Amino acid sequence: MSACSPIPSTSLAMRTCWINGAFLPEDQASVSIFDRGLLFGDGVYEVAAVVNGRLLDADRHLVRLERSQREISLPAPYDSATWLDVMQALATQNGIDEGLVYLQVTRGAAERDFPFPSAPKPTAFAFTRPKSMREDPNAAGIRLHVVPDQRWLRCDIKSTAMLAQVIAKQAARAAGAFEAMMHEDGVVTEGGSSNLWIVRDGAVHTRPTSADILAGITRDVVLELAREAGIPVVERAFTVEQACAADECFMTSATSFVLPVTRIDERTVATGHAGPVTLQLREAYIARANRLTR
Ligand code: PDD
Repeated sequence: MSACSPIPSTSLAMRTCWINGAFLPEDQASVSIFDRGLLFGDGVYEVAAVVNGRLLDADRHLVRLERSQREISLPAPYDSATWLDVMQALATQNGIDEGLVYLQVTRGAAERDFPFPSAPKPTAFAFTRPKSMREDPNAAGIRLHVVPDQRWLRCDIKSTAMLAQVIAKQAARAAGAFEAMMHEDGVVTEGGSSNLWIVRDGAVHTRPTSADILAGITRDVVLELAREAGIPVVERAFTVEQACAADECFMTSATSFVLPVTRIDERTVATGHAGPVTLQLREAYIARANRLTR
């Protein structure tokens, strides 16, 4: 019996993963039970899309990784150029035409003690996963489930400590919804693992960046695409009620691109079909992804 069995859903084809400088089959890529990522959620991560076998916006994800590392005083074990090579090599070796690369950096293994170890040896690893994003049955429209945002006060850091999102997204799944709509006193913060948007009178609205939300890379790109298309942009928070009454609603993330929201719990958003502005932005996003990866 190997030290670490492949996880069941992927056991058909053993992936190559990368950990602390080595490319290894997934059943040999393991971390210590003393790793602070495991004990405290003391780590940060990124998820970047792969389209046409090539990384999409990985440079932007790596800028955010550097910021996340800095914000938790975690010395960066690898620079962006190394990460780019590792991420692309994994996508290529695993034959990922469309999917994602996940990477994580933790403060490493040390005797269990809350303050930082005096000489941390970070753990870094990455793996891939195939996923269809350009052709996605959810592009017809998804349902959101409204839950209170129960997270900490530094949601701008892409931390691996995500129990609140795990609980939010499990509640969404149990309610038959694709994603959670998290709110504070009725004001939407973001999705469980996505940014949320509404369209009102032809303008797109999304919450401004702050410590309350993650500054999504897809959010940034969609803001640029909207501006290029002459669609007015309003960076302002909106309420759950405003989302239910909006002309359109949609979510964005690196692994979902742009997905229309057609239901929020029992309420139907507008006609109950994907709206024209959402579809225009989804198409523009996919066209850009194809252009950048060909
Ligand atoms: N999540 N907000 C939260 C809380 C997120 O976890 C994510 C991404 C986003 C969207 O960010 P981006 O556009 O950079 O993917 C917003 C990733 C996809 C995940 O955890 O799997």
